[in-house]
Amino acid sequence: MVNLGDVFPNFEASTTDGDIKFHDWLGDSWGILFSHPADYTPVCTTELGMAAKLAPEFKKRNVKMIALSCDSVEDHNGWIKDIKQNSGESGEWPYPIIADKNRDLAIQFGMLDPNEKTAAGLPLTARCVFIVGPDKKLKLSILYPATTGRNFDEILRVIDSLQLTATKKVATPVNWTSGGKCMVLPSVKKEDEGKYFPKGVETVPVPSGKGYLRYTPQPE
Ligand code: BEZ
Repeated sequence: MVNLGDVFPNFEASTTDGDIKFHDWLGDSWGILFSHPADYTPVCTTELGMAAKLAPEFKKRNVKMIALSCDSVEDHNGWIKDIKQNSGESGEWPYPIIADKNRDLAIQFGMLDPNEKTAAGLPLTARCVFIVGPDKKLKLSILYPATTGRNFDEILRVIDSLQLTATKKVATPVNWTSGGKCMVLPSVKKEDEGKYFPKGVETVPVPSGKGYLRYTPQPE
């Protein structure tokens, strides 16, 4: 298992774009590694189609995308044709898909879903999302069961939050989207507010009298 803040393992893998070593492939970019249960399945087809459609949004955020399942490169390449037709995406396929036939990576990263098995009884990967920073450390992980498709707009939203909060002394509140009001980190002292937040800080009064609910416009 990889915990938040750990350096993501520099694994080697076969992909639809050839063999990779993860850290070399990532370079100085952010990265998203996301698994799906199996090729030629309906929910996965919609998910990978949406990921392809949103590829320019990931690129804009300097995030490299890579998918993974326990199928072969040949299956991935055949299935990509179905995904493209179903999603209406034409042109070059925008991200590699890892072939983890022996489940080495799925086991190493805790991706297997005990409730989902192949016809032969082998476990399948769940819908994992790992966001890795340019420092190669794990910034976020999300795990969905096979029966629940992900919302890729939400994934872009969390990337916006991760990238903002990586450099500014803010956290993003419930249902925040880029451009919305942010919360001042509890670790910021009152006397330092002016230094870090030139656009101002609004402290909301609460019955406890503790001034911890502090809003500030999103820092540049
Ligand atoms: C799907 O992608 O539709 C799916 C795959 C495995 C289990 C359930 C659904």
